[in-house]
Amino acid sequence: MLYNLSRVRGHIPFLLLLLLHVVIARPLFPLPSKTSNEDKKPIQTFRPYNIAHRGSNGEIPEETTAAYLRAIEEGADFIETDILASKDGALICFHDVTLDELTDVSSRKEFANRRRTYEVEWLNVTGWFVVDFTLEELKTLKLKQRYPFRDQQYNGKYSIITFEEFISIALDASRTVGIYPEIKDPVHINKHVKWADGKTFEDKFVDTLLKYGYKGQYMSENWLKQPLFIQSFAPSSLVHVSKLTDSPKIFLIDDFTIRTQDTNQSYWEITSDDYLAYISNYVVGLGPWKDTIVPVANNYLMAPSDLVARAHAHNLQVHPYTYRNENQFLHFNFHQDPYAEYNFWINTVGVDGLFTDFTGSVHQYQELTSPHPKDATANNLLAKIAQMIAAYEGL
Ligand SMILES: *[C@@H]1O[C@H](CO)[C@@H](O)[C@H](O)[C@H]1NC(C)=O
Ligand SMILES: *[C@@H]1O[C@H](CO)[C@@H](O)[C@H](O)[C@H]1NC(C)=O
Repeated sequence: MLYNLSRVRGHIPFLLLLLLHVVIARPLFPLPSKTSNEDKKPIQTFRPYNIAHRGSNGEIPEETTAAYLRAIEEGADFIETDILASKDGALICFHDVTLDELTDVSSRKEFANRRRTYEVEWLNVTGWFVVDFTLEELKTLKLKQRYPFRDQQYNGKYSIITFEEFISIALDASRTVGIYPEIKDPVHINKHVKWADGKTFEDKFVDTLLKYGYKGQYMSENWLKQPLFIQSFAPSSLVHVSKLTDSPKIFLIDDFTIRTQDTNQSYWEITSDDYLAYISNYVVGLGPWKDTIVPVANNYLMAPSDLVARAHAHNLQVHPYTYRNENQFLHFNFHQDPYAEYNFWINTVGVDGLFTDFTGSVHQYQELTSPHPKDATANNLLAKIAQMIAAYEGL
C-alpha cells in the first residue's frame, strides 16, 4: 500500500506539468472570449473576495498565464495583476519597474548596455527598466519565481503577458472570474513612455478595459458579468480615471513610512477621516498593507488600528494585502497556521477581500467556514446539523 501510494505521488508533479503544458498551449487569441456569458456560474458576492495576488504565485511564477489559470482552477474570485508599459507603449503584466529580479535579462548579452538609473517613487533605482524595452524584446525574456523557498521548477518556462492576454484569460474562464488590475507606478510610466495620440498611461489603461466591455458601477448588471476593481497607490490617477469610467476603484495604501508617489502625502494624511471622506467620492474601497491595520512588533500582532471601522463608516470596503502561507510571513500569533490568519482577518477584523499568494488555501478555508448557500451538498449538510441540534434540544 505505502509503496504504491508513493509511486502514485511520484507521478503527480509529472501529470501536473503535462496538464499545465496542455492549458498553456491553448491559444490566447482571438479576443474577445468565445465563451458565452449567459451560462457562466456567477461570481460569489456573499463572503470576502478571494483575490489571487499576481495569480497563484505561491506555486507558479507571478503574473504568468499558468499562475492565473491555476488561480482560476483553485477558486479565485478575482485574478490580480500589475500593469506597466513597454517602451513602445504596450500595456503588460509585470510587478517590478526593473526586470532584474524576475527575468533572465542579466544573462542576455544583447541587453548588457541597457542598464540605467532612474528616480522612481523618491528613490534612485538601477537596473534593466521595463520602459526601456519594446514589447517584442520583453516577450523574449524568461520569467522566474521571486522567492528562493518556493517551487523553482517553472523557472525559464514562461514569458511576460500583455494586459489584453490577461483579460482574455479571465473572459475565457468557464465561470465568471473578475479582474483586479493595478495602474502601476503611473508617475514613472508617464515620464518615460509617450503615446502618439497624446494620451496618458491611465487613459490607455481605461481604453483597454472599455474595449473588452469592462464598465458599470459596483454590483451593476454589467459589473456582475465582468467584475472589475481598478487599483492604484496614486490618488491622482484614481481621480483621473473616475472621469473616464464608472467601474469601481480601490485606493491602495502602503506602509507607514511611504509617501504617495504623485501627491507626496504621508500615510497619516491619506488615512485621516477627512481624506477618507474625500477619496470615497472616487473609490469603493481601500487596499492597505495589512501590517498597517494590525501593526506588528517582534513578529507578534499589536492592537488593531481603527482603520477598518473608519473605512466602513465611510462606506468603503477594505481589501488588505498580502496573505502568504509560508512561515516566513505568518506572525507568531497564528502558530504557523494560515487558516488561523484567515480566520482572524475575516471574522475578527472583518475585511471585505483578501489579496493572497495562495488562492487555493483561502478558497478551501472559505468553503469550510462559509460554503456557498446555493451549494446543495453544503445545504444538505447544514440541514443535517440543524436536525441533530433540534434532536438534542428536544431531549
Ligand atoms: C538620484 O541621483 C541623482 C544623480 O546622482 C541625484 O541628483 C538625486 O538627488 C538622486 N535622488 C535621490 C532621491 O537620491
Ligand atoms: C515631500 O514631502 C516631504 C514632507 O513634507 C518633504 O520633506 C519633501 O521635500 C517632499 N518632496 C517633494 C519632492 O516635494
